Amino acid sequence: MNLKACLFDLDGVLVDTAVFHFQAWRRLANELGFDFTEHQNEQLKGISRMESLDRILAWGGVSLTEGEKLAWATRKNGWYLELVNQMTPADVLPGVRDFLENLREAGIKTALGSASKNAPLILERVGIADLFDAIVDGNQTSRSKPDPEVFVLGAKVLGVPPDECLVFEDALAGIEAAHRGGMKAVGVGSAAVLTEADALIPGFTSVSLQSLRLL
Ligand code: G6P
Ligand code: MG
Repeated sequence: MNLKACLFDLDGVLVDTAVFHFQAWRRLANELGFDFTEHQNEQLKGISRMESLDRILAWGGVSLTEGEKLAWATRKNGWYLELVNQMTPADVLPGVRDFLENLREAGIKTALGSASKNAPLILERVGIADLFDAIVDGNQTSRSKPDPEVFVLGAKVLGVPPDECLVFEDALAGIEAAHRGGMKAVGVGSAAVLTEADALIPGFTSVSLQSLRLL
């Protein structure tokens, strides 16, 4: 491909916050009297905060008013932020900073494409905000992945056509979003989950630009 831009999901790709989301959502479920599994949690990756809450409540067979839902979502976010606020630059996943710097040197543009409203805070905490040419997150988008909105907007801000963009994702919904936006997608994680990805990497420590251009 004619690689001009890389678009990155945040949680579980650049930082390990997917684990924090799982912990905080589980705490919410436990306080409401039920539990859910890591396997079920895969279905929450890439999904917005309120939509995630709806899915979890359905698993527990719990029905709440809109006001109660907002209160629980706020509580969950507080627990999540307690974990996020302990993060430092050491919490960027291995190889990520080098890879972003290599892209910059190679003249390839970078954008964040995350459903999270906490994305700006997380990027600042781990000190990688200035390595992105564009940041698109849950504050500018209204449709959750697998809708392509977040990536389509990212490509537009960068001024790069979709077929010259490559997306990095740890969520099945995110791979589908990339494809629906006309982009190729590299899965970061396990082949068992990311069945639709165009390529798979375990992380960023040994990714070569050359091999990505072959996609
Ligand atoms: C990402 C994560 C989801 C999370 C969503 C919203 O897509 O993969 O697990 O629910 O962002 O995050 P937020 O930080 O706004 O609650
Ligand atoms: Mg993710």
